[in-house]
Amino acid sequence: MFQLEWNEKYEVGNPEIDSEHKIFVRILQKIICSSEKKENHAFTERLIYQIYKYADFHFFSEETLMMEIHYPAMGEHKKEHDMLLMELRNNISVTGNENYQRPLDDFIRFVTDWFVSHSVKMDKKLADFIEKNKVCTC
Ligand SMILES: [Fe+2]
Repeated sequence: MFQLEWNEKYEVGNPEIDSEHKIFVRILQKIICSSEKKENHAFTERLIYQIYKYADFHFFSEETLMMEIHYPAMGEHKKEHDMLLMELRNNISVTGNENYQRPLDDFIRFVTDWFVSHSVKMDKKLADFIEKNKVCTC
């Protein structure tokens, strides 16, 4: 059984980003849990829609932060966000093309790997930039 627990190594050191990441992981945990109750497919689909909507909100929030501080690496960072959003959207049954939808286990692993890799690299760089430049994000 695949499990995902919040881990300190996912923390980037910016309270706003970290608190939103915890919610993202929580929704992903619910998808994992729901996927194991195979009779509840419609609910799992709803959770996939939820993680798409939340990722859309969270990326918009991070990108607003980047604009606020004139973050020099915004372009490459946003490219990774857009790639995940497209992947999530493709896996929602009402918006996705079924030819592109991944099997659920594969989808869960893909999103988990993406989150771990993106947060410890890209988001950590962003948080460090904010800290190093003592940017006030009020
Ligand atoms: Fe990000």
